[in-house]
Parts: sequence; structure tokens; C-alpha cells
Amino acid sequence: MSVLTSPASSPSLWRTFAQRFQVGAAVGGRSPDSLGSGERELCVRHFDVLTPENCMKPGPVHPERGRPDFSASDALVEFAERHGQGVVGHCLSWHQQCPDWLWPAGIDRQSALAQLSEHIHAVAGHYRGRLQGWDVVNEAVADDGEFLRATPALRAIGPDHVLRAFELAREADPNAELYYNDYNIEQPAKRQRTLRLLRELLAAGARVDGVGIQGHWILDQVPFGDIRAAIAEYRALGLKVMITELDVDVVDRPDCGADISVQRAYAPAADLYRDGLPDAVAARQAEQYAELFRIFGEPGAVSRVTFWGLHDGMSWLNTWPGKRTNHPLLFDRACRPKAAFAAVLDSIASPVRR
Ligand code: G3I
Repeated sequence: MSVLTSPASSPSLWRTFAQRFQVGAAVGGRSPDSLGSGERELCVRHFDVLTPENCMKPGPVHPERGRPDFSASDALVEFAERHGQGVVGHCLSWHQQCPDWLWPAGIDRQSALAQLSEHIHAVAGHYRGRLQGWDVVNEAVADDGEFLRATPALRAIGPDHVLRAFELAREADPNAELYYNDYNIEQPAKRQRTLRLLRELLAAGARVDGVGIQGHWILDQVPFGDIRAAIAEYRALGLKVMITELDVDVVDRPDCGADISVQRAYAPAADLYRDGLPDAVAARQAEQYAELFRIFGEPGAVSRVTFWGLHDGMSWLNTWPGKRTNHPLLFDRACRPKAAFAAVLDSIASPVRR
């Protein structure tokens, strides 16, 4: 299948994979209606479920206690509803982009639980019945060593802070699916810690419908074997598995993981692809995206694949862990399909390579 040159004439991504899994995208900024016309066309044509990149995070949506600001998130939900797209809320509890009032130093457990309840009921309650699901807790598992990440929620509430958040989300919106979302949880050690967390949540009677493997992978370092094994192990818990923040970074980022607290100052010379992505690199990215989609497309493997951004120009990877021109997605800065787009479409016709 040839690479078509415009989003309007390209086969729809989500329609191509509709029998296997949903295809979604994260949308940033104030509102999808403020996107350029090409970006809006891209968003509606290729994705049938949207994730707000930032506007529903605790800080942006609830900056002051008791005074949530739904202006940006309402615009996104209304856009999606107008276009028949689902919305996954992101995210109710996270240690990043948190308002100061939610976890003040020294807050006692009962007060912290009361404030978390206030936040979750305000936000998930506002969208009750309108969202497909929620990333209830984001990135609560430690990257190394211990079990849980040392977050303000862990310090204030204790090791059951994840369980409490899931219980509150279920109260606030009984209709929404509830997910745990994290990065690098395909990797063996962090995968075992995440499996432990999920088993404990399920044993405690929490409603957990799925787990989100974020999928912030790096070209030539994509852990295909770990991804396949992780999908199988999470599925074995009876959970839906979703790839929630997919991108394939073409600029290496040694020892950065996906923890945004890490920052790097790159020299201009490190901006390797400021003039565009070389064909040879684009070809390698295409093949690695195709292999990922062959794994995702295996029967019953995943229920959703969400790209973390609409096109290369809107990717967080242009500024993290430092500023350099990146090309991690399927569409270029002009919304044109890249080689990776055609390779992903072609993957549906070719079985996974063992
Ligand atoms: O909106 C403010 C703006 O008013 C202000 O002028 C500007 C400068 O300080 O900051 C703007 O907020 C920024 C926000 O993106 C919106 O652009 C924050 O500083 C910036 O930290 C934030 O970065 C986001 C990051 O999460 C932290 O929340 C990225 O766009 C977003 O792609 C990234 O996404 C996360 C997922 O939520 C969780 N998994 C990892 C993933 C990548 O880090």
C-alpha cells in the first residue's frame, strides 16, 4: 500500500483496526476546535477515542480547592461527542501537575482522603456517564527497588492510596471503565511490581478494568519481547490491556525513562533532525511501528492503542527531556502520513514474526 500524501485521502487508521482495537490520540492545547483545519481533519479521520494531554490533570482542571476549571476539558469532550469519538479521562491522581492544595506537606491521612474524594467527585462526577474510562492513577509504581513510588499521595494516605482513588472513581462515575496507567511496565522488574499492585487492587475488590502500558519507546530499543510477555501477563489477570501513550522517539535519550522530572540541556548539535527525518531513519521507524502493530493485532492482545499526540509537531518529545526536533509519530508536521503510517496499515495483512 503506497503512502498517501494527504490526511483527507489516507485510509482511516481507526477504521482499519476497528475489528481488533480502538485507535486514539492525545490532544493538547485549549481545545480541538482551536486546532488548524488539517489537524482537525487528521484527528477526526484517524482516531475514534481522544485523551486530553493535559487539561484534565489535577492541576489544570482543579487549580484551586472547590473551584475546578472545566473550560478546556469541556471543549474537548464536546468536540469528541460532536464527532462520535470516545474520551478517556487523564488522570485523577498523579504526582506531577498537581495543585498545591491537594497534598500539602504534613496533611494527615483523613484530611488527605477527604481532599482526594473532593477532587475525584468534582472532576469524575462532572463527566459522569460521558467518558469511556479514566486513567485513575498514573505512575504510582516505583521505577526501581521499592514497590510504590514515593509520591505525596503515598506519604499522606499510605500504601492504599491507589485503592482509595479507584474506590472514589467508581463512586463518582459507576459507568466509566477504570484504568491504572504507567510507563516501562513492560520491563520485567517494574512489570512484576505492577502485577503485584493490580493483584492487590483486585483482591481488595476494586473495580479495575484495564492497565495502560504507556509505550514511550525509543527507536532501535523497542522491547518487543517484553511487550508481548507483558500483554500476556496483564491479560491473565482478566484485565483489558491498552497502549495509552505510544510514540517511537527517533532521538536517543539515555537514562531518561519517561519521568518528566528529568531535564536535559542539549547542545544545538544534538538537534540531529531539525531539517527533517532522514529516509533511512524513517524506514527503521516504519518497520518498528509495523512490528508493534503486529503484536497489538494478535487476537485479544490489546483493546486500544492511543498515540501521544496527533502529529510530530505536537509531540511532547520536541521539548522533553530537552529541546530538539523530534519525529516520533505517524504523521509529519504538515499532517502528512509518514512511511510508518503505510507500514502500520500494511501490518494488518502480515502476521507477527516470532
Ligand atoms: O499550560 C501552561 C502554560 O500556561 C505555561 O505558560 C507553560 C510554561 O510554563 O506551561 C504550560 O503547562 C505545560 C503543559 O505541558 C501544557 O503545555 C507544563 O509546563 C508542562 O509540564 C506540561 O507537560 C506535559 C507533561 O505530561 C507534564 O504534565 C506534556 O505536555 C505531556 O505530554 C506529558 O504527558 C505525560 C502523561 O500525562 C503521563 N505519562 C507521561 C507523559 C509524558 O511525560
